[in-house]
Amino acid sequence: MYESWDKLKEDCLKCQNCSLCKTRTNVVFGVGNKNAEVLFIGEGPGENEDLQGEPFVGRAGQLLDKMLKVIDLDRNKNIYIANIVKCRPPQNRDPKLEEQEACIDWLRAQVNLMKPKIIVCLGRIAAMKIIKPDIKITKEHGLFFKKKDLIMMATLHPAALLRNPLQKPGAFDDFLKLREKIEETCDHTYIRN
Ligand code: URA
Repeated sequence: MYESWDKLKEDCLKCQNCSLCKTRTNVVFGVGNKNAEVLFIGEGPGENEDLQGEPFVGRAGQLLDKMLKVIDLDRNKNIYIANIVKCRPPQNRDPKLEEQEACIDWLRAQVNLMKPKIIVCLGRIAAMKIIKPDIKITKEHGLFFKKKDLIMMATLHPAALLRNPLQKPGAFDDFLKLREKIEETCDHTYIRN
């Protein structure tokens, strides 16, 4: 059990739990406000993320930032963003189950320290790992699931939206539902004046 975020990060950056450590440039630990009430979880770093050490910094990340802005969320202010695996899978293939298993305790430790109220899974891989293994993201995106005190939702991955822009309105709908849920359940994500 980690009690310090800095120590958790320090250890994570040295991780050699799976073979992805051999091909990575950087461990992508996460970005944002570690006191946030809302945690977004993606799949794993791509090329840009591996080079820069930050999640969602490529084209998909730019789209994500725009969608976040629509509901007044900002990676540098009121949310945190992490991934299921913290090192880039070669050629951006899906992370293997054994790589996810080798990595997931880092994310668990982040969740234990952050204690977010809402987790948003970006895409199928995160939704299967975090919400339920048989989730059908095309049907079940935008629905809220509850586990103990934690509220969870999956939405379409921004990279999927870039490939299939017809899915964008559905994803925007999810974000509007998310805003309502945040207003209902969070205390300081939207600071009221
Ligand atoms: N896609 C993801 O799932 N995560 C990233 O950090 C970048 C792209």
